[in-house]
Amino acid sequence: MSFKLGECGGDLHVKSGTVFYNAQKISLGKGVRLGNRCDFYVSPRESNKKFPLVIGNHVHMGHRCTLACIDSLIIGNKVMIGNDVYIADHGHEYRNPDMAIIDQPVTEPKQTTIENESWIGASSIIMPGVRIGQHAVVGAGSIVTKDVEPFTVVVGNPAKMIKKYDLVTKQWMKI
Ligand SMILES: CC(C)(COP(=O)(O)OP(=O)(O)OC[C@H]1O[C@@H](n2cnc3c(N)ncnc32)[C@H](O)[C@@H]1OP(=O)(O)O)[C@@H](O)C(=O)NCCC(=O)NCCS
Repeated sequence: MSFKLGECGGDLHVKSGTVFYNAQKISLGKGVRLGNRCDFYVSPRESNKKFPLVIGNHVHMGHRCTLACIDSLIIGNKVMIGNDVYIADHGHEYRNPDMAIIDQPVTEPKQTTIENESWIGASSIIMPGVRIGQHAVVGAGSIVTKDVEPFTVVVGNPAKMIKKYDLVTKQWMKI
């Protein structure tokens, strides 16, 4: 299988089974490493953005990750993502009790952003509209439903802050 990405900075390493849906809508930076069987999905629905899914430079992603995007999913530079991570900018509507959920539309997309130098632990889920701040850490198995401050560590479901970098003492402090 071959894919023609919208944009790619070069030095791209992709392991087997990784697929790009609507590859022309995806922008990859340089030096990106992707594991086996990752899914990069950009909906065929109209977006006014040239690249709804943007991945920065030197991003490393493990195996079996899914990035699901309608309009705006942005991953910064030097982001590290473990195995089995799911990140999306939309969900699915369920509120009409008279219609099967499968027949209801997806929700309106909300921009999901993973800022530079952050680390998303294995088996985590990043919910639509969330912003993970610079150099933040999401512990393994976390479900992130709210924004995460830069230079903090969050864990659990729903993810809560457990550590924060203190600029005065220059130490990671327990919360
Ligand atoms: C989040 C993480 C970086 C924290 O590391 P740390 O700063 O050394 O944290 P500590 O070991 O001091 O743990 C602090 C507390 O958080 C808890 N904790 C740590 N990671 C947790 C997690 N993923 N989920 C729930 N609780 C967690 C610890 O049990 C401890 O609780 P306590 O204070 O009640 O004893 C690490 O635990 C983690 O999850 N790393 C991701 C590993 C991974 O996904 N690797 C593969 C991808 S590259």
